Amino acid sequence: MDILKTKVAIIGAGPSGLLLGQLLYKAGIDHIIVERQSEEYVASRIRAGILEQVTVDLLEQAGVDENLKNKGLPHSGIEILTFKQKHRIDLTNLTEGKQVTVYGQTEVTKDLMTARKNSGLQSFYMAQDVRINNFYDQPEVEFVVDGRAVKIECEFIAGCDGYHGICRASVPSDQIKTFEKVYPFGWLGILADVPPVSDELIYVQSERGFALCSMRSHTRSRYYLQVPLTEKVEDWSDEKFWEELKNRLDPESREKLVTGESIEKSIAPLRSFVTEPMRFGKLFLAGDAAHIVPPTGAKGLNLAASDIAYLSQALIEFYHDGSEKGINEYSEKCLKRVWKAERFSWWMTHLLHRFETETEFEHKIKQAELSYILDSQAGRTTLAENYVGLPY
Ligand code: FAD
Ligand code: PHB
Repeated sequence: MDILKTKVAIIGAGPSGLLLGQLLYKAGIDHIIVERQSEEYVASRIRAGILEQVTVDLLEQAGVDENLKNKGLPHSGIEILTFKQKHRIDLTNLTEGKQVTVYGQTEVTKDLMTARKNSGLQSFYMAQDVRINNFYDQPEVEFVVDGRAVKIECEFIAGCDGYHGICRASVPSDQIKTFEKVYPFGWLGILADVPPVSDELIYVQSERGFALCSMRSHTRSRYYLQVPLTEKVEDWSDEKFWEELKNRLDPESREKLVTGESIEKSIAPLRSFVTEPMRFGKLFLAGDAAHIVPPTGAKGLNLAASDIAYLSQALIEFYHDGSEKGINEYSEKCLKRVWKAERFSWWMTHLLHRFETETEFEHKIKQAELSYILDSQAGRTTLAENYVGLPY
């Protein structure tokens, strides 16, 4: 068995793991990343698309914002289509100048991977049978790569291995509590090289269900449809997707919609999920390993970034100043922000989706709430403040 030593072993090379690696590298803290998939697989996953300003600032701090600055699209507002009308939420005016940036998670991941390669930092891709041991005392990570067994002896483990990872699953069940809500529908997403239907994102509430018109650039669009969980992606031809999207849009957008061949199509289930606490001795959970939000509020990737902001700072304080304060406060600080984003994502999902089990009364109340939010300055401000991201 090969034995390696490092300060921080990072499990998972998604945005959380890669960003933590980059921030630790900048601070001169030795670390190794262990990822179960191949580099190509990780770099090609199509997921989130909206970055909060605090996430953009963190990527700048990590020195990986060159492409983001050149290709990211700043957005100062979003549209909500309901009651057959579009209502603009002026994010920037309602939040004293804040905005969001359209820049795909795929691009964030690629930028971080390139930076990592250029700095010659150590990563193991295609790691099999990854296990973490002894994390209340002297942590170790074991795995098999290219047929050889490897052990990493480390001081801390960062569990950045997503919802299906092994880090959360390795915590004894009496030390962890989880909170979960599963929604009775999913999002069918399509990516296509066609210009977006509008300059801004359109969140659509319709009798036929929710839809979202998003984008990755001026020439690449990302659209989603709420679908029952029983739907299969194979049953959705491109034509069927575009037809259904048109049925959920207003006449003007329907007219403007440019359709084309899809380059990716998938169904994602919707879930709210939180783990408490987020630290177990010398193991920290971050990003999707610790919490999941339904994508309606565009918070998943941004929450992962805020966990990493707290975790990198805690580790830097520990290694540079010998202070354990950040480490001890990590879980509490993260969870405070996590629950607020969970609430917002749940609320947006509840407000904009069609629930089959909803009574007529509940439906009327929901429409009244939406009407109140859109017609009142206080209501629009609440939405905008949460959408652009709450402060760290
Ligand atoms: P992940 O991106 O899941 O990365 C975890 C990494 O750990 C993966 O590379 C995985 O291969 C690796 N790993 C897992 N198990 C092991 C193991 N045993 N050993 C080693 N490595 C392991 N958010 C939004 O804001 N908007 C969206 O539109 C949106 N769409 C989404 C669509 C889908 C299908 C999914 C799954 C998520 C979506 N999200 C979205 C959420 C967002 O993508 C996540 O919040 C974000 O990817 C979290 O990053 P992460 O690094 O914490 O986890
Ligand atoms: C996306 O572009 O993928 C996207 C944008 C906003 C969301 C969710 C997904 O709320």
